[in-house]
Amino acid sequence: MQALDLLLNRRSHPRLKSPAPADEELANIMQAALRAPDHGSLKPWRFIVCQGLGLKELGDIFERAAIANDLSEKDIARAAELPLRAPMVIVAICKFLDHPKIPKAEQVASACCAVHAMQMAAVAQGFAGIWRTGHYTEFEDVKQAMQLDEQDEIVGYLYLGTPMTALPDKPLLDPKQFFENWD
Ligand SMILES: Cc1cc2nc3c(=O)[nH]c(=O)nc-3n(C[C@H](O)[C@H](O)[C@H](O)COP(=O)(O)O)c2cc1C
Repeated sequence: MQALDLLLNRRSHPRLKSPAPADEELANIMQAALRAPDHGSLKPWRFIVCQGLGLKELGDIFERAAIANDLSEKDIARAAELPLRAPMVIVAICKFLDHPKIPKAEQVASACCAVHAMQMAAVAQGFAGIWRTGHYTEFEDVKQAMQLDEQDEIVGYLYLGTPMTALPDKPLLDPKQFFENWD
């Protein structure tokens, strides 16, 4: 796939099945993450690649957090199933490093760029994905289960796999609504 075609036409897929990226494909996805723009080369990143039993473990963590945080019965019942919506979920974490010139927002931005880069590397290799967040990026119980330090942040869960269905075309937006020219 051409780079520009990828950038102009990429879509997120909520419905994903096996196979997930493996071997060289997964290695490329990892390397794409590690090319994210990174002020000061702090490398404020940590990623957990969940597959198989790892997805079950992630679901158990979500379920325990849902119970501990008094979510609705419906949310508790769903929690363990959430990671099973794809054959692979990559947990993307901003591993914060205290720095006099590089604030946390920039380190989170770098981790977010890594998520996007991984999604694009997956799409470029014929896979698909969707970046999800929600309660389970915020709950302290989840962060503790993944051994995050106090200032670390879960910036997203990147669900990856093979698209189950084709998506309808998404119209391009009008750049005039978002870009100003200062000539
Ligand atoms: C930081 C961030 C968090 C997101 N969280 C969710 C989420 O929890 N659930 C969801 O369905 N989509 C979420 N999205 C949106 C999807 O990743 C996706 O962009 C959206 O479904 C639009 O589809 P598209 O990427 O094909 O335009 C999130 C996007 C970003 C950037």
